[in-house]
Amino acid sequence: MRNLPAMKHPPHYSVPARSRGLKPAYKGRMEGRLIPACLAGALFLALALPTAYGWGREGHVIVARIAEDHLTSQAKAGIAALLGAQSSIAGDAVANWADDIRPHRRESKTWHYVNIPFGADHYDAKRDCPPAGCVVDRIGHFARVLADKKAGQETRVEALKFLVHFVGDVHQPLHCIERDNDRGGNECTVIFFHEVRNLHWIWDDELIRRRMHLYPDPIAFADRLDKRITATQTAEFTKGDAASWAGESHRAAREVAYAGVPTTRIKPPLAEDYVRHCGPVAENLLMKAGLRLARMLNTAFEGEHSR
Ligand code: ADE
Ligand code: ZN
Ligand code: ZN
Repeated sequence: MRNLPAMKHPPHYSVPARSRGLKPAYKGRMEGRLIPACLAGALFLALALPTAYGWGREGHVIVARIAEDHLTSQAKAGIAALLGAQSSIAGDAVANWADDIRPHRRESKTWHYVNIPFGADHYDAKRDCPPAGCVVDRIGHFARVLADKKAGQETRVEALKFLVHFVGDVHQPLHCIERDNDRGGNECTVIFFHEVRNLHWIWDDELIRRRMHLYPDPIAFADRLDKRITATQTAEFTKGDAASWAGESHRAAREVAYAGVPTTRIKPPLAEDYVRHCGPVAENLLMKAGLRLARMLNTAFEGEHSR
């Protein structure tokens, strides 16, 4: 049985059909007809239950947990001073806070991704990052705010929560690309295990969920990934900055996520082969994100006196 971190969600918590990867037209067809109440109820439960278990949120918790395993005692003390001793960056309320406030903080809408054109070979701030901000420039910004001991407590708490979340987002390949105005695969409809889905959702949620089937608790899954990280990988993974990480993600999107997904309207269906090919790449990116987040947090809290 799945663990129940979802029980932490407020009762009204639900994820729009779009973020479960359902094509809007499909959703409309189901909701637009007069369906007998009991059937509608059963349908609602069938669709709502998985989201109640927090699908789509695991990736951020996994990244934060891996980072937590690599924090210096100084960073741990600094984080405890900001969040309170009981709080962990790997808590759903911290790692996914930026998604929860997105509807109310409209200025943050563009901060979760950067649309590097499909044909480009690297991130170019002038071309890719709009004045409203993008995931690359926000990582730099919030790292600076977090490191600023003169910034107010509330401002630094927000900076910490944004940073934890955005270092995860920049490692999701489809958060760093756009092909044919598809908003990182959000508009790319595919058949995935016989269901109509969008490619973005497969990468946000489903690949990780399928890799987690033996370890449904994201913390246990993260600790298992962490044990696999070698010293060579630690040295290799911690290199670079947000701009180069976005470039790596963009390359993974081109070479892995979009591979076998042509721009034609009719596309070959995706199933086990796609998961077998892409799942390990997604895991690798989660490990990198965790180590890189740890490095950023360790740097931000350098020289800070613990309480
Ligand atoms: N909205 C527009 N482009 C996006 C992308 N690449 N990833 C996530 N959300 C987006
Ligand atoms: Zn996000
Ligand atoms: Zn996403």
